[in-house]
Amino acid sequence: MTQPVPFVDLVRMHEPLAERFRRAFDQVLQSGQFHLGPRTRAFEQAFAEHEGSRFGVGCGSGSDALVLALRALDVGPGDAVVTVSNSFMATAESIRRVGADVVFAEPDPGTRCLDPIDLDRILGEPGAERIRAVIPVHLYGHRADTDGINTVLQGADRADVHVIGDAAQAHGSPGVAGETTLTCYSFYPAKNLGALGDAGMVLSQDEALCERLRGLRNHGRSGKHAVAELGYNSRFDELAAAMLHIKLDVLRQWNEQRRFAADAYRALLNDVPGVELPADDPGHVYHLFVVEVDPTIRDAVVAGLKARGVGVGLHYPVATHQMAPYPSNRPLPITERLVSSVLSLPMFPGITPLELERTAHALRESLLAAHEEPR
Ligand SMILES: Cc1ncc(COP(=O)(O)O)c(C=O)c1O
Repeated sequence: MTQPVPFVDLVRMHEPLAERFRRAFDQVLQSGQFHLGPRTRAFEQAFAEHEGSRFGVGCGSGSDALVLALRALDVGPGDAVVTVSNSFMATAESIRRVGADVVFAEPDPGTRCLDPIDLDRILGEPGAERIRAVIPVHLYGHRADTDGINTVLQGADRADVHVIGDAAQAHGSPGVAGETTLTCYSFYPAKNLGALGDAGMVLSQDEALCERLRGLRNHGRSGKHAVAELGYNSRFDELAAAMLHIKLDVLRQWNEQRRFAADAYRALLNDVPGVELPADDPGHVYHLFVVEVDPTIRDAVVAGLKARGVGVGLHYPVATHQMAPYPSNRPLPITERLVSSVLSLPMFPGITPLELERTAHALRESLLAAHEEPR
């Protein structure tokens, strides 16, 4: 029997770094300091520089990073925030967690990221005066069109609307962090840069905003026993900082390996009928390699891949507005079509050419079989 192809293999990815992790663990243990210490500050600075930004504020998760960003911009009850529904639910959740309303925009079917044309429509709809921010998601590692979003905001004379980037899936994608007021990252383990647990960060060029974020992540404190505003316990662990700093050294190389794998998939799959490949972008960092198939056979194709030993993911099979807490009062046909067509193929640094070939072969066979099966 041939070896299965894992969807992602963190053990394989971490193996060459394991000795450095163990040494770093010992150093943190001996330091006796476990959060918001020198390792956090060093990693915040290193990551901000790596992403072309000035300041970084580490926090407990990518979900918290989004909440902290909205709070730092004073978004709250009575306000509305525009984002997409074909994302991980944490994006919309953050908006609701600060008490604001979510307005879902459609994605561009090519990039699968927030479509500036639909944002333009939203800005002309009733209630648009309540919009205080837009959160484009750099979905799967493909950069959202932030230039287009800024052009639309300027055209509508809405300088009061902030753009917050959700870059949870786009570490190392050039330019992403410089384009928005605040940019939020997740270091969930399977991300392009993942911790060995949960962690997140907000990046910004604005020192005053970062000072506010530093207070908010630590109970709203302005001093040891002084609290300036309602905050959170969302501190950054020294262990996370130490491990992430080690992994930051290989992020560029790992992203190149992802791009290499994506190029190989394109070459292997470009003549397969019925498969829509992701749009390329020179800055794409392929957190996921997401193809689209006919929605009526998607589940059969997924089952076929699994039966052939190939790991497969769905990102995301249910749109956020289809989940109970996040109803949309705008119809979202493009989003609904996308979530029923997408499937994610194995993608991780270190995936071998043989694994890529076996995945492509299994996809070809599963598509053929699904077309032949009675529905
Ligand atoms: C697009 C997006 N936004 C936000 C998050 C939330 O990040 P976390 O899981 O670190 O809270 C994630 C990841 O899980 C994500 O993929």
